[in-house]
Amino acid sequence: MLSSTLALLAVVSPAIVELSTASTTYDMIKEYHGSGFFDDWSFYGNFDNLTEGDAIFVTEEVATSSQLAYVDSSTNHAIMKVDNTSTVAFNDKRNTIRISSNDYYEVGSLWIADMYHVPYGCSVWPAWWSEGPNWPSGGEIDTFEGVNMVTHNSMTLHTEPGCTQEDPTQTSTLINSTDCSFEANENAGCSVTDPSSSSYGAGFASAEGGVFVTEYANASTGISVWFFNRSSVPDSISSNSSSISTSDLGTPTANWPNTGCSISEFFSQQQFVFDITLCGDDAGAASVFNQTCTGSCYEDYVVGDGSNYANAYFEVASVRVYSVNGENTITSVSSDALANTYPWKASAGATMLAAVAFASGFSWAF
Ligand SMILES: *[C@@H]1O[C@H](CO)[C@@H](O)[C@H](O)[C@H]1NC(C)=O
Ligand SMILES: *[C@@H]1O[C@H](CO)[C@@H](O)[C@H](O)[C@H]1NC(C)=O
Ligand SMILES: *[C@@H]1O[C@H](CO)[C@@H](O)[C@H](O)[C@H]1NC(C)=O
Ligand SMILES: *[C@@H]1O[C@H](CO)[C@@H](O)[C@H](O)[C@H]1NC(C)=O
Ligand SMILES: *[C@@H]1O[C@H](CO)[C@@H](O)[C@H](O)[C@H]1NC(C)=O
Ligand SMILES: *[C@@H]1O[C@H](CO)[C@@H](O)[C@H](O)[C@H]1NC(C)=O
Ligand SMILES: *[C@@H]1O[C@H](CO)[C@@H](O)[C@H](O)[C@H]1NC(C)=O
Repeated sequence: MLSSTLALLAVVSPAIVELSTASTTYDMIKEYHGSGFFDDWSFYGNFDNLTEGDAIFVTEEVATSSQLAYVDSSTNHAIMKVDNTSTVAFNDKRNTIRISSNDYYEVGSLWIADMYHVPYGCSVWPAWWSEGPNWPSGGEIDTFEGVNMVTHNSMTLHTEPGCTQEDPTQTSTLINSTDCSFEANENAGCSVTDPSSSSYGAGFASAEGGVFVTEYANASTGISVWFFNRSSVPDSISSNSSSISTSDLGTPTANWPNTGCSISEFFSQQQFVFDITLCGDDAGAASVFNQTCTGSCYEDYVVGDGSNYANAYFEVASVRVYSVNGENTITSVSSDALANTYPWKASAGATMLAAVAFASGFSWAF
């Protein structure tokens, strides 16, 4: 009843819908930018044992010395990139970056990532996302993600069974799947594709990037993601305002209301992650890879010189975090709670790895 009324109003006047939708004001509590961008993150420092990528997520020391993570002094933007200067031998992996924020943010937070370039290319699988402790029980919010040469961003939640996307108020009509459970559809999650070709890849870069806004609310609106390309960034964001009202942002690109997914049940405090892996469970799966690229993900791209990776980098102007009512939503998590086990990824990853090794006829040294 409510949703059909809203749908009708949307045809008559979008402004009325905004007035009838609760808006929330958030105040800035934390900013990652400029020369201090990398101060409050941890570098993974291990090969990709999470998504079976052909990637080594280097330590901070290696990232700094080999210039895979640095702040560009001319733009003041943070760069995180895949190694595109080394030659990788068959059976080796390529160096790249995975960082996670030292702080966690409770429900009642909103975060804005302002970027000028996102990684893309065959074999490249980047994401800007967040997760709670003990995946999947703390939930996962993927604000930005894509694989290989796709041209549109995908926005996804992953949770324990019982969370679905129901009656979203969102501008995108490209709904890929509505069951957020890690057990459904091989952990595809509940996923929405951004219809804008400036949301990913070369289209994103040529539009000088844009901003991704993620709202993690305990209100009926639940979780929302907005994307604005550079020429559409709302004034309240481009002016570096210390507070943001969701009423200034319009209808989100993707939305997962509390109705189909009780946010307090399926999500706990979120830790941010930027990562770029190569091939792996998603980008490297034959049926995914061959949608936008040809050849063998590992042998034809990861192995050999780095010429494939000139576009495999994030260029980030800032990440700003806001919290509702000016409350401080920054929190920490005990190390016990951080013993991530990745039950799905461990089992399905092993199956996938076996299939990939069989299909490509070589054995893995790792
Ligand atoms: C991945 O490697 C790190 C470092 O060795 C280890 O702490 C972690 O338990 C491993 N995770 C998985 C899922 O194997
Ligand atoms: C999601 O749906 C869109 C639109 O139908 C499609 O173009 C895209 O390939 C799908 N994405 C995935 C990951 O299946
Ligand atoms: C930027 O976004 C606006 C609003 O969605 C759209 O009209 C415009 O075409 C986009 N610009 C580019 C370069 O894609
Ligand atoms: C979220 O909402 C639920 C239901 O109203 C409530 O029980 C819970 O305390 C709220 N959590 C926070 C962190 O506000
Ligand atoms: C944005 O504003 C905050 C204070 O509100 C300030 O610390 C920060 O330097 C500003 N950032 C930029 C990129 O201007
Ligand atoms: C892509 O891979 C899938 C799975 O291996 C296969 O069924 C499909 O025919 C392939 N499509 C193309 C265009 O090669
Ligand atoms: C490596 O990538 C950078 C952009 O990140 C590019 O400027 C440079 O030309 C690339 N180098 C090689 C050897 O391809």
